[in-house]
Amino acid sequence: MGNGSKSIFRTKSIEQSIRDTEEPGHRLRRNLSALDLTVFGIGVIVGTGIFVLTGRVARELAGPAVALSFVVAAIVCALAALCYAEFASTIPVAGSAYTFSFATIGEFPAWIIGWDLMLEMALGAAVVAVGWSGYFTSLLSTAGIHLPASIAGDTAVVNVPAAVIVLILTVVLVLGIKLSSRVNLVVVAVKVAVVLLVIFAGLFFVKAANYTPFIPPAVTTPEVEGLAAPLIQVMFGVTPVAFGVIGIFSAAAIVFFAYIGFDVVATAAEETRNPQRDLPRGIIGSLVVCTVLYVGVSLVVVGMESYTRLSESAPLADAFRAVGQPWIAGLISVGAIAGLTTVVMILMLGQSRILFAMSRDGLLPPSLAQVHPKYGTPARTTVVIGLLTAVLAGLIPLSALAELVNIGTLFAFVVVSIGIVVLRRTRPDLPRAFRTPFVPVLPALSVLACVYLMLNLPVETWLRFLVWMLLGVVIFFVYGRRHSRATVQVPVGK
Ligand code: ALA
Repeated sequence: MGNGSKSIFRTKSIEQSIRDTEEPGHRLRRNLSALDLTVFGIGVIVGTGIFVLTGRVARELAGPAVALSFVVAAIVCALAALCYAEFASTIPVAGSAYTFSFATIGEFPAWIIGWDLMLEMALGAAVVAVGWSGYFTSLLSTAGIHLPASIAGDTAVVNVPAAVIVLILTVVLVLGIKLSSRVNLVVVAVKVAVVLLVIFAGLFFVKAANYTPFIPPAVTTPEVEGLAAPLIQVMFGVTPVAFGVIGIFSAAAIVFFAYIGFDVVATAAEETRNPQRDLPRGIIGSLVVCTVLYVGVSLVVVGMESYTRLSESAPLADAFRAVGQPWIAGLISVGAIAGLTTVVMILMLGQSRILFAMSRDGLLPPSLAQVHPKYGTPARTTVVIGLLTAVLAGLIPLSALAELVNIGTLFAFVVVSIGIVVLRRTRPDLPRAFRTPFVPVLPALSVLACVYLMLNLPVETWLRFLVWMLLGVVIFFVYGRRHSRATVQVPVGK
């Protein structure tokens, strides 16, 4: 199954992947440090998950035990992060899981992963932009400016603020990563300050009574009926329930969204000054910081207000409003708007790099993989992704789509975890700055944990996921397979 074969499982050698990045006109600038990466990570990780989904999940699925759901999701992510870190430090090339899969399992699985990652990044960016629009609209109305319901909010025909923020960020990204990481640094500082404010100011308003019961008894609710039931509950033939111990896991599958992004750090590998050392630090560092913040925030928020009364659109701010602290609520809204902006931006950045790598390999039109002569950024893929995300953000409602983002991301984690074991067997010789501990046990646990969380997602999410992936398979056989660089020219063997 070597390079140049006609097999859809042909792989691209790691040396070839790295060489491709050196081609003139296809080379990205290397100017990110470990600190840049950690900031980059926190910038994309802390977002809609903690600012918006915490309220919904506590109300509908877990109650105060939502803090435990954050811990469960963090454990799943930590296992995957240890696998991502080895890959990213071994194959420091733009494209994240897409590149990893091409180097290990083969072209077709790599395409599938690349296609799947669009759910995580382009759809994820759109979902977060819609969340951004919600906070923006509510802040405007606090200031007495009311946007018409047809252009903003849940019932909007076209969500104009969401589409506009995406377009503005597209321009920022085309202008260059140095500018974007500097802007990002400031915004991340504001966001972390706001999260700390929630934790420390909130502590003064916590009432012990709100923690009882910490794990509310399991009940059947409309939120878990029919196609909305978690697949695992349907598989085992139990009557679907929310809350209880089982609810902690259904909630974990949703708050998993709050951790999405640490893997995006890996997509910046090609632009990192010392990827071997800095990538693992960036990935694991940002994950640890976020876990501590999330557990703190969720414990405080469910302590401030009964979970049954938490707001679903702006739970952190509204918890402070409920205890008579509107100015803190206002500050939190401003921080959330700033924070969600960086999330949208970095998800789009990651997506444009993956599309860039896929086009460079010929699986998509190679003309997309041109670097801007002046800014050194993949301007064409950035514009394509910007327009696509703006349309999605303008037209889709927030609610269930976060779950589709989660299933797509967890699937990518499964493939990466398998890839780590494959790569140890096929290329034991490669220098690995970071080695995942306990291989193959840890990657196996990572696969099991990710699949388990996936099974906790609703049946309808699985259906949407399958439709999207089938579409990807069709496109591969109609276009990618024939135009792939591995078909057109025989690459240098291992
Ligand atoms: N983790 C990111 C968020 O919660 C995607 O918004």
